[in-house]
Amino acid sequence: MFSNLPSPNLDPILSLAQAFRSDPRSEKVDLGIGVYKNSDGDTPVMQAVTKAQDIVFEKEKTKSYVGLAGCEEFNGLIRNLVLGSSVDPERTTTIQTPGASGALRMLGDLVKAAKPETTVWISDPSYVNHRPVMEAAGLKVRHYCYFDRETKQVNLDKMMSDLAQAGSEDIVLLHGSCHNPTGADIDFDAWKLITKMSLKNGFVPFVDVAYQGFGDGLIQDVEGVRYMASNVEEMLITTSCSKSFGLYRERAGAAIVVNNSQSQANNVKGKMLTLARATYTFPPAHGAELVKTILSSEELTSCWENELVQMRQRLMSLRGALCEELRITHNTHKFDFIEKHKGMFTMLGFSQEQMTVLKDKYGVYGVGDGRINIAGLTEKDIPYVAEAIIKVA
Ligand SMILES: Cc1ncc(COP(=O)(O)O)c(C=O)c1O
Repeated sequence: MFSNLPSPNLDPILSLAQAFRSDPRSEKVDLGIGVYKNSDGDTPVMQAVTKAQDIVFEKEKTKSYVGLAGCEEFNGLIRNLVLGSSVDPERTTTIQTPGASGALRMLGDLVKAAKPETTVWISDPSYVNHRPVMEAAGLKVRHYCYFDRETKQVNLDKMMSDLAQAGSEDIVLLHGSCHNPTGADIDFDAWKLITKMSLKNGFVPFVDVAYQGFGDGLIQDVEGVRYMASNVEEMLITTSCSKSFGLYRERAGAAIVVNNSQSQANNVKGKMLTLARATYTFPPAHGAELVKTILSSEELTSCWENELVQMRQRLMSLRGALCEELRITHNTHKFDFIEKHKGMFTMLGFSQEQMTVLKDKYGVYGVGDGRINIAGLTEKDIPYVAEAIIKVA
């Protein structure tokens, strides 16, 4: 049965994590896997989550199945968190999924069922799993230009000229904020331009919101998404509770569809439930229950928002400290772009070979494409990492 299976290609980020664990050097620094870390290098359980957990344990009376759409209260709250009042809720369909990864696959499958010949346009580069998930759903994938390796910012002109080729059979996948892997985001004017192009050329926007609150703020990070949702007829959205609530292993997320009518919303929901039934059937309950508990309590919401502010500020201060070290100790402005990037990631613009030297010679583990996770730094690592960057550059 399985003798013809080729040997597996391990996900580069997951194999990097394995290599880091077995590296005996004490000075090693893990800037690989995309998880938030505090100044002790830990990925903590957020306090709001701990409090919600106590409430859930107290109230929980059963471990019986949830519905195919998961927890409907969670679905409404998470839709509001992303979309606010930008679109009539009656036109939306939301289902709880196993993380944004589950949502990406759910929406890929939905598109495949509705229009099998669809091409999904993804940014170059994009989140490492975008292409595999869309291809696994049977969709064609093309790239649009995104990151300018010279300026380390978005090349909007080239992006728009590539997207001009996307037509009414196409989906354009965008990152809500804190672009993974580059850290370079489009601004609000660019969201308006893409919305205009979608209306003119007919492609359906698909926005992956994995880092809400990690960039400029909970609302600021989805301003473009909300603008788009209030102007287009159809739109796809995935959202994740992994980073914003620190619930990585609980697998909580949602797939949201903005429909052109309420009746379409009903049909889309029916199809999504059938797709869920044929894959994982019911999403995991615990993470979504915690998010529901937080978002339905003013006190817990404010506790969670404050923690998110602290996490965001920490990322900004690490970016500032690294740039400062490079400017003051090494007398270079070449890396000032790090401060302009948003969220956890920065694309250094290093080649695969340079990233290998950074890892093998200095024990600084970033991803081979040049991505580093700023959250993996601690204040004490900064001089060492800055020096390694300078030596490799
Ligand atoms: C852009 C992007 N989308 C989706 C995901 C998947 O998130 P989840 O843990 O919710 O499956 C990630 C995780 O790193 C991501 O960076």
